[in-house]
Amino acid sequence: MNAVEVRNGIYWVGACDWEVRDFHGYETPRGTSYNNYLIMDDEITLVDTVKYDFADITLKNIASIVDPARIKNVVVNHIENDHMTGIGDIMKLTPNATIYITDKGKKGLERFFDISKWTIKVVKTGDTLSIGQKTLLFLETPMLHWPDSMMTYVKEDKLLFSQDAFGQHIASAARFDDEYITCQSMAELDDAVVDYYANILMPFGQLIKSKIADVQKLGIEIEIIAPDHGIIWRKDPGKVLQAYLDMANGKANCSVAIIYDTMWHSTEKMTVPLLEGIKSEGLDCKIIKLRATPMSVAIKEFWKARGCLIGTPTLNNIMFPSVANFLTHVRGLRPKNRIAGAFGSFGWGGGAVKEAYEMLKKMGLEVVEPGVEINFKPSLEDEKKCFEFGAAFARATKEYHTKFE
Ligand code: FEO
Repeated sequence: MNAVEVRNGIYWVGACDWEVRDFHGYETPRGTSYNNYLIMDDEITLVDTVKYDFADITLKNIASIVDPARIKNVVVNHIENDHMTGIGDIMKLTPNATIYITDKGKKGLERFFDISKWTIKVVKTGDTLSIGQKTLLFLETPMLHWPDSMMTYVKEDKLLFSQDAFGQHIASAARFDDEYITCQSMAELDDAVVDYYANILMPFGQLIKSKIADVQKLGIEIEIIAPDHGIIWRKDPGKVLQAYLDMANGKANCSVAIIYDTMWHSTEKMTVPLLEGIKSEGLDCKIIKLRATPMSVAIKEFWKARGCLIGTPTLNNIMFPSVANFLTHVRGLRPKNRIAGAFGSFGWGGGAVKEAYEMLKKMGLEVVEPGVEINFKPSLEDEKKCFEFGAAFARATKEYHTKFE
């Protein structure tokens, strides 16, 4: 992909990664992009770099606009490897450029590079940099999603470089939301936003709310949000801001996700009467088998539904490994405002359902007990129990959901 002008001399000069399907363990069926931006002004400024493997692409894109040796400033909003490791190649071409970075960012940067000959200025919230016609305002966003993170705002263009926030893992010929909606669909873009939030930003809901409030207090008007991954928001940046606020406030569908795994199909057979019970109370329900579903997709489905039923057979007196693995991932994401229950089957000795409940309680989720645990294969009576538990769980989900309406 060639360089693309975003607004008034500000160019996207990043790279699309069409092939990546495993982004440090996170499934990326649509690939991703590493976005960075070049600002043409009296002092030519580069905002972020890219993953090391793509450094030659961003350099080619920069060179299509200006000799990279003329870059005067490099803003590093975030030092995770996918955005920062290309900086070595940039600094070789423009060794006298000044790097603008947070204090924590600098501490991280020196673990990767010999920075002794680089000029580095540490910035904090409210600091500004005039680069000619344009003024950059720096906003620290610690723990969104790393301690070093910050965003950079271009006052004259009302444009926010938001690093990971508001991004999506999408590789596309489209650079902007309006272009993407034309060639793909809004529903797909919305789905990519939820996917990204659920898998990366779920733990930081409170911080997201307080940072958006800070931005509002500073009276910053935003017309374009340019994240470090995926599509740039220029048609309706307010939509993605609102989507983040909604998710941070616990928004979910009043529906249930049944997320399970199975050894000899007994736990699987329980999902059908459970679903029928849920449906009998008027709720939608999706069934997700863990070993048939990428982890990040299961997490997204967990996040989209207000209620979740975890299904696990007992293996060696504990939860089935794929279910334990899923719950461990979810626990790390510190979910809030969700209600859960558990069910499963066992052969000679149970225990998995009890263990699943212990894990759900450790996460601080609302739980509906005692769930259903059956021996060997579900009998007609067991199926009836599953139906009744599904219906009771749906009623509890509906009642819990009213807190968020
Ligand atoms: Fe896209 Fe936190 O890196």
